[in-house]
Amino acid sequence: MPLARSLSVTSLSGLEEWDEEFDLEDAVLFEIALEVANKVGGIYTVIQTKARLTSEEWGENYFLVGPYVESNVRTQVELIEPTNPVLKRTIDKMNSSGCKYAAQCEEPPHIVAHFHEWLAGLGLVLCRQRQLPVATIFTTHATLLGRYLCAGNVDFYNNLAEFNVDKERAAAHCAHVFTTVSQITAIEAEHLLKRKPDIITPNGLNVKKFSAVHEFQNLHAQSKNRIQEFVRGHFYGHLDFNLDKCLFLFIAGRYEFSNKGADLFLEALARLNYLLRVNHSDVTVIAFFIMPARTNNFNVETLKGQAVRKQLWDTAQTVKERFGKKLYESLFSLPDVAKMLDKEDFTIMKRAIFATQRQSQPPICTHNMLEDNSDPILSCVRRIGLFNSSADRVKSSCHPPPSTSNGLRGLVRGCHLGVFPSYYEPWGYTPAECTVMGIPSISTNLSGFGCFMEEHIADPSAYGIYILDRRFRGVDESCNQLTSFLFQFCKQSRRQRIIQRNRTERLSDLLDWRYLGRYYISARHMALAKAFPDTYIYEPHEPTSTSGFRYPRPASVPPSPALSRHSSPHHSEAEDNDEDERYDEDLEAEKDRVNIRQPYSVPFKNKISS
Ligand code: G6P
Ligand code: GLC
Repeated sequence: MPLARSLSVTSLSGLEEWDEEFDLEDAVLFEIALEVANKVGGIYTVIQTKARLTSEEWGENYFLVGPYVESNVRTQVELIEPTNPVLKRTIDKMNSSGCKYAAQCEEPPHIVAHFHEWLAGLGLVLCRQRQLPVATIFTTHATLLGRYLCAGNVDFYNNLAEFNVDKERAAAHCAHVFTTVSQITAIEAEHLLKRKPDIITPNGLNVKKFSAVHEFQNLHAQSKNRIQEFVRGHFYGHLDFNLDKCLFLFIAGRYEFSNKGADLFLEALARLNYLLRVNHSDVTVIAFFIMPARTNNFNVETLKGQAVRKQLWDTAQTVKERFGKKLYESLFSLPDVAKMLDKEDFTIMKRAIFATQRQSQPPICTHNMLEDNSDPILSCVRRIGLFNSSADRVKSSCHPPPSTSNGLRGLVRGCHLGVFPSYYEPWGYTPAECTVMGIPSISTNLSGFGCFMEEHIADPSAYGIYILDRRFRGVDESCNQLTSFLFQFCKQSRRQRIIQRNRTERLSDLLDWRYLGRYYISARHMALAKAFPDTYIYEPHEPTSTSGFRYPRPASVPPSPALSRHSSPHHSEAEDNDEDERYDEDLEAEKDRVNIRQPYSVPFKNKISS
């Protein structure tokens, strides 16, 4: 029976369903990448999150091929015997021949082989060189040269011999279909690899829907509590700021100081610090740098801080127990509240408070850094003087990434804003992950994600998607723009932040594989039609009037007349902590429903002949 495909998004934002049928009965899909069950960077996320949708479509005819890493196999792979006889024969043959060659059978199925990145691209070149009957796709997630050149700290002349882009270029040119993850990387590929991508395949996510619509808000509050606990310990003895008015920002990613825009972020934080001070703001900003610098263990100060916090907590529990008992007993007669705390209680409390005395400033890092002197973030912190002193309204804290993805998710959820001012970022998964968790973020028009959102949302900042211009402005101007985004964000009231988070979360469907998976389907279909023109036809259909449709400005306005009627929450400076009305906007959200027909100006539709 032919397999039919149908992708549907049936949620709030009313994204268009995408139905089509074509015969995949004798087709087999291989996806090949170094990051299959092997986490190195974002390509792992692409493959891992997309796997469910692709296997729904291809069933047992979908195979992922990656490097055999024993530890990964043990933890991420379930070993099974293939049921498909052709495949079983192939694998047996590969095994018996020491994995030298394969895929030779009398009636070969129609094979699609999708290669990710140049490291896997060698297989693609060999497929074509040996003229194997395989439809090939090559997806580049960044170009080698682009990444090197943008990093800025590459010793260009002494590494010239290393810049070998031939393999990458060969894979891009040999492929039946060449794709890349974003518009910005398409431009890069066109110039550096000399082939214009046939189709853009943006990266999606597996969006988990909660049954309670506002669950993500509750999760934010819970995760924020945990961050606040950490801050209590880390800043002990210097907690002269109001934790309830504290905003948590974070940057995370591969440790590429300037590619990831950590340089710009630090400079903007220094400027923000100045602005908050001169404006006598009562907001304190804590910026977390989550980057894998080389460290050994937690430093003594960090451990001590958390121990002090624990001691204060235990003291409070002890005094609470004693107080509770006395209160209970006294309720039988007329209670004398003044006598409820006795001398011993005060002694315990004084002792605990004494332990919070501290001569040193709260540390910048939680761990011992192996290259403390030359570390780019620390060197920059020293140069701009962000030392976590009492007068600073902006504090910073550097951490290695949490060891589990749950740990990182918790941190993201508990923060108020993710800041990713990247200079080089073909896609950039972290702001996308922020979005589906309902956490606003700053990205740039040099990142794939930023370009994608800019293209599909009429007023991105109203939805908590701030897009920094790093393409057409100088560094100093971009830094001022970033500072201004941050300063405006600091001026929002709690209620405005809650409304903004609701809007951010509403964009999730746009980033779901259930929606974005269609571009991979188009690419495969295009490749099948090019490789096997007698069997398959690929027909991009005419652009429609709805192509390029964008999420409009939110139609709803904040519920209280005291608030500004601007749609961007940051336009109002009114402080309002009344949370009762905080979800009123959601009733209005219905008005924000849009029908996004086609996210690209040249939509594709596939049709296959029987
Ligand atoms: C969520 C919770 C609220 C909480 C708020 C804090 O919306 O549901 O109960 O007050 O987060 O928001 P804030 O932006 O101040 O962290
Ligand atoms: C590369 C890019 C990154 C992208 C990832 C997945 O690692 O640098 O921006 O998110 O590939 O496509």
